Amino acid sequence: MSQLQNRTAIVTGASRGIGLAIAETFIREGAQVVLCGRTQETLDAVAQQLGPAARPFACHVGRPDDIRRLVEFSGPVDILVNNAGTNVAQGPCLEMDDARFDKMIEINLKSAFRLMNAFAPGMCERGSGSIINIASISGRRPQFHGMLYSMTKAALIMMTQSYALELGPKGVRVNAIAPGLIQTKLSEYYWKDDVRRNAQIERQPLRHLGQPEEIAEAALLLAGDGASYMTGQTLTIDGGYLLNSL
Ligand SMILES: NC(=O)c1ccc[n+]([C@@H]2O[C@H](COP(=O)([O-])OP(=O)(O)OC[C@H]3O[C@@H](n4cnc5c(N)ncnc54)[C@H](OP(=O)(O)O)[C@@H]3O)[C@@H](O)[C@H]2O)c1
Repeated sequence: MSQLQNRTAIVTGASRGIGLAIAETFIREGAQVVLCGRTQETLDAVAQQLGPAARPFACHVGRPDDIRRLVEFSGPVDILVNNAGTNVAQGPCLEMDDARFDKMIEINLKSAFRLMNAFAPGMCERGSGSIINIASISGRRPQFHGMLYSMTKAALIMMTQSYALELGPKGVRVNAIAPGLIQTKLSEYYWKDDVRRNAQIERQPLRHLGQPEEIAEAALLLAGDGASYMTGQTLTIDGGYLLNSL
């Protein structure tokens, strides 16, 4: 049976990678999915492949006006996946500046805050909803030369717990996923090069490169009724990478 029949979802960053895999999986399970990314043309092409349950809408998650338009376009939403993210500001802590700090906060963190505040009130009124924030294992351990990325993802995990605490009594669940290395455009530095990829896989108990679909199946669990007793949790999905830290 389809797990998300008659549900509407929004997936940010759905034009490729993890967000696209989540959108595909939700549609497979019967949901209508609003696809969000920065370029309408790209989203239209993706939607054409996904079929009529996909509703493309360009929205830069760092822009409040775009988010207001997204709310009008979407109507009532049962599932919100805050997936859009960036790691543009890589480098030593001492080389980071105000502009990069603000940009990382805006795209990786404030976007989720704004989107939750835009869509959760409707979920609370209806007495049900599921919000899923895509964090990272870099929010659990500091990524070398990735201070700003790690900081935003750690904060997203705490934001998830804070919202879960307040929205739970209203029937809204809020959870996060912390992926390890997943083979997407964002992470190509870590897997395109053979030496780096092999070193990564050697360290993981599960010896393959993570795929977007492996995150999407966890998002499906959190989105649907199978996770009806779960809130405030962060599922680490990393092939066991973090186990190997001693
Ligand atoms: N890949 C990994 O190894 C990994 C590991 C841990 C966590 N994550 C997290 O997983 C999430 C998805 O990453 P990914 O690996 O799938 O990356 P990706 O392949 O680069 O995809 C990023 C998506 O976000 C969209 N996007 C970027 N900036 C946006 C903005 N300002 N407004 C709206 N959409 C925006 C992009 O669409 P357009 O370019 O078309 O706008 C694209 O659809 C991110 O939050 C990332 O931090 C990834």
